Parts: sequence; C-alpha cells; structure tokens
Amino acid sequence: MLASGTGTVLGSIIEHGPPVALVVTDRTCPALDVASTAGVPTVPINRRDFGYRPRSDWDRRGFTLAIDAALEAAHIDLVAMAGFFTILHEVIFERYSGRILNTHPALLPAFKGAHAVRDTLAAGVPVTGPTIHVATEILDDERHILAQSASVPVLAGDDVDSLWERIKAEERRLYPQVLWEIVNGEIDLET
Ligand code: GRF
Repeated sequence: MLASGTGTVLGSIIEHGPPVALVVTDRTCPALDVASTAGVPTVPINRRDFGYRPRSDWDRRGFTLAIDAALEAAHIDLVAMAGFFTILHEVIFERYSGRILNTHPALLPAFKGAHAVRDTLAAGVPVTGPTIHVATEILDDERHILAQSASVPVLAGDDVDSLWERIKAEERRLYPQVLWEIVNGEIDLET
C-alpha cells in the first residue's frame, strides 16, 4: 500500500482487508505509525530526497523508480494507494499495468484532483461518496471504476472536514471489501 497522510483508510484495510505485505510512504506521516503498530513492514521514501520542491520541477521518475524497487524487493503484485499525495511517473503504471488501485473522495468522473471535497461542496450537489478505481498515469482516471458508493449526503452546515470524514468512513468500509473481491476472483482487473 502507498500512503502519505493520517492512514485511517490504510488502517481499515490492514484490519479488514487481505494481508498487506508492505506500506510505502512518500514522507514521514502518521500512516507509517499505523502500519508499524500493526506489524506491517514499512519503507519510507521521502520525495524531498529526490529534489521535490513545492511549485517546482522535481525528479518524479527517480522517486518512482525507488518505489518500484521497494515493491519489487517485496515481490508485490497488487498496489493500493490510500491517501497517497504524489503523482507517480508513468514507468510504474507500465510495470504494474492494471494493478495499481486508488480511492478518490468523490464520484468520478466528477470532482477530480486534490480539492475534490471542497469542489463537491462548492458545486452544491446533494450526495457524494468515494470511487475505487484502477489508477493510471492520467490523474483520477475514471475509465476503470471498480466500485462507487453514492451514499454520503451533503448536509447543511457541512464544511470540508465534516464532509470528508463521512466520505472516509465509507472508504474504510468499501476499499477492504473491493480488495477482498479482487483476491477472491470476484472482480477481474483485466476487464
Ligand atoms: C481519502 O479520502 C482518500 O480518498 C484521499 O485521501 C484520504 C486518505 O485518508 N486520497 P487517510 O489518510 O487514510 O485518513
């Protein structure tokens, strides 16, 4: 699994999903502690070590190849991103074609990008929910959606934090379920 943030979705997958072999992060973050506490091996790969600077170019390819090496060393065959904040270089999508998953806190193809929850609120839609999809080099690619849950009402008085937390509660339920369905052959990643 790849994570960058608080790791609550990661934690739910560790608890309720198929066995997690490895957690890779792009920074020092609480997700590392979530994995360590659960006894899951971790590999922190700090993107800043690869030249990352806000609002500037950086060596995305070198960083991505470092992640690739960590996955290969652990014989990983399915990659699940959960709150991973770096856009990976296309080399990894070629190697793991169709086998990198992501969860997005909106109903794709609506509200792509890092501000999905803010944009959902601004649009004034009554309902939202997460999308679990096959990730590609195209940001928030909606071409291969595995599961979507239009189950989260947008309430009067919601702010980004309150709405996002209810979406994440649904992600914590849905993502482990989707991963089990893949492992059990009920979802075919090839189609
Ligand atoms: C989730 O809402 C996910 O869709 C988004 O980041 C959030 C991760 O939350 N990409 P957490 O770090 O697992 O709490």
